[in-house]
Amino acid sequence: MESKNLLEPMDLTVEELEELFDLAEKIMEAPEKYTEACKGKLMATLFYEPSTRTRFSFEAAMLRLGGQNIGFSEAGSSSVAKGESIADTASTVSCYADLIVMRHPKEGAPRVAANSARVPVINAGDGGHQHPTQTLTDLMTIRSLRGSLTHMTVGLCGDLKFGRTVHSLIKALSRYEGVRFVLISPEELRVPDYVRKEILDKKGLDYREVEQMDEVLPELDVLYMTRVQKERFFNEEDYIRLKDRFILDEEKMALAGEKMMVLHPLPRVNEIAVEVDKDPRALYFEQARYGMYIRMALIMTMLQGKRRG
Ligand code: NCD
Repeated sequence: MESKNLLEPMDLTVEELEELFDLAEKIMEAPEKYTEACKGKLMATLFYEPSTRTRFSFEAAMLRLGGQNIGFSEAGSSSVAKGESIADTASTVSCYADLIVMRHPKEGAPRVAANSARVPVINAGDGGHQHPTQTLTDLMTIRSLRGSLTHMTVGLCGDLKFGRTVHSLIKALSRYEGVRFVLISPEELRVPDYVRKEILDKKGLDYREVEQMDEVLPELDVLYMTRVQKERFFNEEDYIRLKDRFILDEEKMALAGEKMMVLHPLPRVNEIAVEVDKDPRALYFEQARYGMYIRMALIMTMLQGKRRG
Protein backbone atom coordinates (compact mmCIF):
# COMPACT_ATOMS: atom_id res chain seq x y z
CA MET A 1 0.00 0.00 0.00
CA GLU A 2 1.19 3.50 -0.76
CA SER A 3 2.04 5.56 2.26
CA LYS A 4 0.52 9.03 2.50
CA ASN A 5 3.60 10.48 4.15
CA LEU A 6 7.24 11.00 3.20
CA LEU A 7 9.16 10.13 6.36
CA GLU A 8 12.16 8.34 4.91
CA PRO A 9 13.58 7.70 1.42
CA MET A 10 12.15 4.20 1.06
CA ASP A 11 8.60 5.60 1.31
CA LEU A 12 8.99 6.30 -2.41
CA THR A 13 9.54 3.51 -4.91
CA VAL A 14 12.13 3.90 -7.66
CA GLU A 15 9.22 4.30 -10.12
CA GLU A 16 7.64 7.04 -8.01
CA LEU A 17 11.02 8.78 -7.86
CA GLU A 18 11.31 8.68 -11.64
CA GLU A 19 7.83 10.23 -11.96
CA LEU A 20 8.84 13.00 -9.56
CA PHE A 21 12.08 13.74 -11.43
CA ASP A 22 10.22 13.84 -14.74
CA LEU A 23 7.60 16.18 -13.34
CA ALA A 24 10.27 18.42 -11.76
CA GLU A 25 12.05 18.68 -15.11
CA LYS A 26 8.79 19.62 -16.84
CA ILE A 27 8.18 22.30 -14.23
CA MET A 28 11.72 23.66 -14.75
CA GLU A 29 11.13 23.88 -18.49
CA ALA A 30 7.81 25.72 -18.25
CA PRO A 31 7.09 26.98 -14.71
CA GLU A 32 4.34 29.29 -16.01
CA LYS A 33 2.15 26.24 -16.67
CA TYR A 34 2.05 25.35 -12.98
CA THR A 35 1.29 28.68 -11.32
CA GLU A 36 -2.18 27.53 -10.29
CA ALA A 37 -1.49 23.84 -9.70
CA CYS A 38 -2.03 24.13 -5.92
CA LYS A 39 -4.42 27.08 -5.85
CA GLY A 40 -6.52 27.06 -2.70
CA LYS A 41 -4.16 24.70 -0.86
CA LEU A 42 -2.32 25.49 2.33
CA MET A 43 0.97 24.02 3.55
CA ALA A 44 2.24 24.26 7.15
CA THR A 45 5.98 24.36 7.78
CA LEU A 46 6.75 23.42 11.39
CA PHE A 47 10.47 24.02 11.86
CA TYR A 48 11.83 23.28 15.33
CA GLU A 49 15.43 23.61 14.03
CA PRO A 50 17.19 26.24 11.91
CA SER A 51 16.93 26.04 8.14
CA THR A 52 17.54 28.18 5.07
CA ARG A 53 17.27 26.02 1.96
CA THR A 54 14.78 23.44 3.10
CA ARG A 55 12.17 25.81 4.49
CA PHE A 56 12.57 28.51 1.85
CA SER A 57 12.56 26.03 -1.01
CA PHE A 58 9.41 24.35 0.34
CA GLU A 59 7.67 27.67 0.87
CA ALA A 60 8.84 29.12 -2.45
CA ALA A 61 7.71 25.90 -4.16
CA MET A 62 4.22 26.21 -2.68
CA LEU A 63 3.92 29.90 -3.56
CA ARG A 64 5.08 29.23 -7.13
CA LEU A 65 2.33 26.60 -7.41
CA GLY A 66 -0.28 29.16 -6.38
CA GLY A 67 -0.73 27.77 -2.87
CA GLN A 68 -0.08 29.41 0.48
CA ASN A 69 1.96 28.77 3.61
CA ILE A 70 1.56 29.05 7.35
CA GLY A 71 4.02 27.90 10.02
CA PHE A 72 6.87 28.76 12.34
CA SER A 73 10.63 28.75 12.05
CA GLU A 74 11.14 29.11 15.80
CA ALA A 75 9.34 26.64 18.01
CA GLY A 76 9.51 29.23 20.81
CA SER A 77 6.91 31.35 19.01
CA SER A 78 4.27 28.57 19.05
CA SER A 79 2.48 26.66 21.83
CA VAL A 80 5.43 24.29 21.90
CA ALA A 81 6.89 26.84 24.32
CA LYS A 82 3.92 26.10 26.61
CA GLY A 83 4.70 22.40 26.56
CA GLU A 84 2.38 21.17 23.79
CA SER A 85 3.25 17.71 22.43
CA ILE A 86 4.17 17.04 18.82
CA ALA A 87 1.07 14.85 18.49
CA ASP A 88 -1.27 17.62 19.65
CA THR A 89 0.42 20.24 17.46
CA ALA A 90 0.06 17.94 14.44
CA SER A 91 -3.63 17.20 15.20
CA THR A 92 -4.34 20.91 15.48
CA VAL A 93 -2.42 21.96 12.38
CA SER A 94 -4.27 19.25 10.41
CA CYS A 95 -7.45 21.29 10.98
CA TYR A 96 -5.97 24.21 9.07
CA ALA A 97 -3.51 22.94 6.46
CA ASP A 98 -3.54 20.34 3.66
CA LEU A 99 0.06 19.28 4.13
CA ILE A 100 2.58 19.41 7.00
CA VAL A 101 6.34 19.78 6.56
CA MET A 102 8.24 19.19 9.80
CA ARG A 103 11.86 19.55 10.89
CA HIS A 104 12.73 18.51 14.42
CA PRO A 105 15.92 17.82 16.43
CA LYS A 106 14.52 14.52 17.73
CA GLU A 107 14.80 11.38 15.61
CA GLY A 108 11.35 10.05 14.78
CA ALA A 109 9.43 13.25 15.62
CA PRO A 110 7.83 13.54 12.14
CA ARG A 111 6.63 9.94 12.47
CA VAL A 112 4.96 10.81 15.78
CA ALA A 113 3.34 13.80 14.04
CA ALA A 114 2.19 11.58 11.16
CA ASN A 115 0.48 9.20 13.58
CA SER A 116 -1.89 11.88 14.75
CA ALA A 117 -2.06 14.17 11.68
CA ARG A 118 -5.01 13.85 9.33
CA VAL A 119 -3.03 15.27 6.37
CA PRO A 120 0.22 14.03 4.80
CA VAL A 121 3.44 14.75 6.70
CA ILE A 122 6.84 15.32 5.09
CA ASN A 123 10.00 14.85 7.16
CA ALA A 124 12.23 17.87 6.51
CA GLY A 125 15.03 16.46 8.69
CA ASP A 126 14.77 14.64 12.03
CA GLY A 127 17.84 14.94 14.26
CA GLY A 128 20.79 12.91 13.02
CA HIS A 129 18.45 10.42 11.35
CA GLN A 130 16.98 11.09 7.89
CA HIS A 131 16.32 13.91 5.43
CA PRO A 132 14.40 12.43 2.50
CA THR A 133 13.68 15.61 0.57
CA GLN A 134 17.37 16.58 0.55
CA THR A 135 17.91 13.15 -0.98
CA LEU A 136 15.33 13.91 -3.68
CA THR A 137 17.32 17.05 -4.41
CA ASP A 138 20.62 15.14 -4.49
CA LEU A 139 19.28 12.40 -6.74
CA MET A 140 17.66 14.85 -9.12
CA THR A 141 20.90 16.85 -9.39
CA ILE A 142 22.94 13.75 -10.22
CA ARG A 143 20.32 12.38 -12.62
CA SER A 144 19.90 15.69 -14.46
CA LEU A 145 23.56 16.65 -14.72
CA ARG A 146 25.09 13.20 -15.13
CA GLY A 147 22.23 11.51 -16.96
CA SER A 148 21.88 8.47 -14.71
CA LEU A 149 21.90 7.19 -11.15
CA THR A 150 23.55 3.86 -11.90
CA HIS A 151 27.15 2.66 -12.26
CA MET A 152 29.02 5.35 -10.38
CA THR A 153 31.40 5.77 -7.46
CA VAL A 154 30.10 8.12 -4.81
CA GLY A 155 32.40 9.49 -2.11
CA LEU A 156 30.68 10.78 1.01
CA CYS A 157 32.96 12.91 3.12
CA GLY A 158 32.86 14.52 6.55
CA ASP A 159 30.38 13.85 9.34
CA LEU A 160 28.89 10.53 8.28
CA LYS A 161 27.76 9.79 11.83
CA PHE A 162 25.41 12.70 12.50
CA GLY A 163 24.82 13.80 8.91
CA ARG A 164 21.21 12.83 8.18
CA THR A 165 21.53 13.73 4.49
CA VAL A 166 24.23 11.06 4.20
CA HIS A 167 22.05 8.37 5.79
CA SER A 168 19.15 9.11 3.48
CA LEU A 169 21.34 9.31 0.38
CA ILE A 170 23.01 5.95 1.06
CA LYS A 171 19.59 4.37 1.62
CA ALA A 172 18.18 5.78 -1.59
CA LEU A 173 21.23 4.98 -3.73
CA SER A 174 21.33 1.40 -2.43
CA ARG A 175 18.53 0.60 -4.87
CA TYR A 176 20.46 1.59 -8.00
CA GLU A 177 22.66 -0.83 -9.89
CA GLY A 178 26.43 -0.55 -9.79
CA VAL A 179 26.76 2.21 -7.19
CA ARG A 180 30.01 2.01 -5.19
CA PHE A 181 30.45 3.96 -1.99
CA VAL A 182 33.65 5.40 -0.56
CA LEU A 183 32.97 6.63 2.97
CA ILE A 184 35.54 9.25 3.94
CA SER A 185 35.53 10.29 7.60
CA PRO A 186 37.57 10.30 10.78
CA GLU A 187 37.17 7.13 12.85
CA GLU A 188 34.85 8.95 15.30
CA LEU A 189 32.46 10.12 12.57
CA ARG A 190 31.93 6.89 10.64
CA VAL A 191 28.40 5.97 9.48
CA PRO A 192 26.22 4.62 12.30
CA ASP A 193 26.02 0.87 12.76
CA TYR A 194 22.44 0.67 11.54
CA VAL A 195 23.44 2.17 8.19
CA ARG A 196 26.42 -0.20 7.86
CA LYS A 197 24.58 -3.34 8.97
CA GLU A 198 21.06 -2.80 7.71
CA ILE A 199 21.84 -1.19 4.39
CA LEU A 200 25.44 -1.57 3.24
CA ASP A 201 26.16 -5.08 4.57
CA LYS A 202 22.65 -6.49 4.28
CA LYS A 203 22.34 -5.50 0.64
CA GLY A 204 25.90 -6.62 -0.11
CA LEU A 205 26.83 -3.20 -1.45
CA ASP A 206 30.30 -2.31 -2.66
CA TYR A 207 31.69 0.11 -0.06
CA ARG A 208 34.84 0.95 1.82
CA GLU A 209 35.66 3.25 4.70
CA VAL A 210 38.76 5.46 4.53
CA GLU A 211 40.23 8.27 6.59
CA GLN A 212 41.96 10.23 3.84
CA MET A 213 40.50 11.99 0.85
CA ASP A 214 43.51 12.46 -1.46
CA GLU A 215 44.03 8.86 -2.47
CA VAL A 216 40.39 8.25 -3.43
CA LEU A 217 39.61 11.51 -5.25
CA PRO A 218 40.70 10.28 -8.71
CA GLU A 219 38.16 7.43 -8.70
CA LEU A 220 35.06 9.42 -7.70
CA ASP A 221 32.19 10.37 -10.01
CA VAL A 222 30.48 12.27 -7.21
CA LEU A 223 32.01 13.81 -4.08
CA TYR A 224 29.33 14.60 -1.48
CA MET A 225 30.85 16.91 1.12
CA THR A 226 29.17 17.50 4.48
CA ARG A 227 29.48 19.86 7.43
CA VAL A 228 30.54 18.53 10.81
CA GLN A 229 27.22 18.71 12.71
CA LYS A 230 28.23 20.91 15.63
CA GLU A 231 24.75 20.89 17.22
CA ARG A 232 24.80 17.10 17.63
CA PHE A 233 28.11 16.85 19.52
CA PHE A 234 28.11 16.17 23.22
CA ASN A 235 31.21 18.22 23.89
CA GLU A 236 32.77 21.16 22.15
CA GLU A 237 36.32 19.84 22.37
CA ASP A 238 35.50 16.94 20.05
CA TYR A 239 33.85 19.29 17.60
CA ILE A 240 36.85 21.62 17.54
CA ARG A 241 39.22 18.69 17.04
CA LEU A 242 37.24 17.25 14.13
CA LYS A 243 35.69 20.23 12.37
CA ASP A 244 38.47 21.02 9.93
CA ARG A 245 39.68 17.49 9.22
CA PHE A 246 38.60 17.65 5.58
CA ILE A 247 38.88 20.80 3.53
CA LEU A 248 38.32 20.62 -0.21
CA ASP A 249 40.45 23.25 -1.91
CA GLU A 250 41.95 23.90 -5.37
CA GLU A 251 44.90 21.67 -4.63
CA LYS A 252 42.63 18.71 -3.82
CA MET A 253 40.40 19.43 -6.82
CA ALA A 254 43.50 19.04 -9.01
CA LEU A 255 43.65 15.39 -7.94
CA ALA A 256 40.07 14.67 -9.01
CA GLY A 257 38.72 13.64 -12.37
CA GLU A 258 37.56 16.22 -14.91
CA LYS A 259 33.94 15.25 -14.50
CA MET A 260 33.71 14.68 -10.76
CA MET A 261 30.57 16.38 -9.41
CA VAL A 262 31.05 18.18 -6.10
CA LEU A 263 27.81 18.27 -4.13
CA HIS A 264 27.02 19.56 -0.64
CA PRO A 265 23.59 19.85 1.01
CA LEU A 266 24.78 23.19 2.48
CA PRO A 267 25.25 25.14 4.71
CA ARG A 268 29.01 24.97 4.27
CA VAL A 269 31.33 26.02 7.04
CA ASN A 270 35.02 25.40 6.21
CA GLU A 271 34.86 22.07 4.41
CA ILE A 272 34.86 23.57 0.93
CA ALA A 273 37.20 26.52 0.35
CA VAL A 274 35.45 29.42 -1.39
CA GLU A 275 38.07 29.23 -4.17
CA VAL A 276 36.44 25.96 -5.32
CA ASP A 277 33.14 27.73 -6.11
CA LYS A 278 34.35 28.87 -9.52
CA ASP A 279 35.37 25.36 -10.57
CA PRO A 280 32.78 24.02 -13.06
CA ARG A 281 32.67 20.80 -11.05
CA ALA A 282 31.34 22.69 -8.00
CA LEU A 283 27.60 22.10 -8.32
CA TYR A 284 26.26 22.75 -4.83
CA PHE A 285 24.44 25.98 -5.63
CA GLU A 286 22.94 24.40 -8.72
CA GLN A 287 21.89 21.55 -6.42
CA ALA A 288 20.05 24.05 -4.17
CA ARG A 289 18.20 25.30 -7.28
CA TYR A 290 17.01 21.80 -8.14
CA GLY A 291 15.75 21.52 -4.57
CA MET A 292 12.90 23.92 -5.20
CA TYR A 293 11.72 22.21 -8.38
CA ILE A 294 11.74 18.72 -6.94
CA ARG A 295 9.75 20.02 -3.95
CA MET A 296 7.24 21.59 -6.35
CA ALA A 297 6.82 18.16 -7.95
CA LEU A 298 6.52 16.51 -4.54
CA ILE A 299 3.93 18.96 -3.17
CA MET A 300 1.84 18.69 -6.34
CA THR A 301 1.92 14.91 -6.26
CA MET A 302 1.07 14.64 -2.57
CA LEU A 303 -1.73 17.18 -2.77
CA GLN A 304 -3.23 15.55 -5.84
CA GLY A 305 -3.83 12.65 -3.50
CA LYS A 306 -1.85 10.14 -5.52
CA ARG A 307 0.08 9.18 -2.43
CA ARG A 308 -2.67 9.28 0.18
CA GLY A 309 -3.12 5.83 1.60
C1 NCD B 1 21.30 19.78 5.89
C2 NCD B 1 20.47 19.38 7.08
O1 NCD B 1 19.69 20.19 7.59
O2 NCD B 1 20.61 18.23 7.47
N1 NCD B 1 20.93 21.00 5.33
C3 NCD B 1 19.92 21.06 4.43
O3 NCD B 1 18.79 20.69 4.69
N2 NCD B 1 20.22 21.48 3.19
C4 NCD B 1 22.76 19.66 6.12
C5 NCD B 1 23.37 20.36 7.29
O4 NCD B 1 22.69 21.04 8.07
O5 NCD B 1 24.58 20.22 7.44
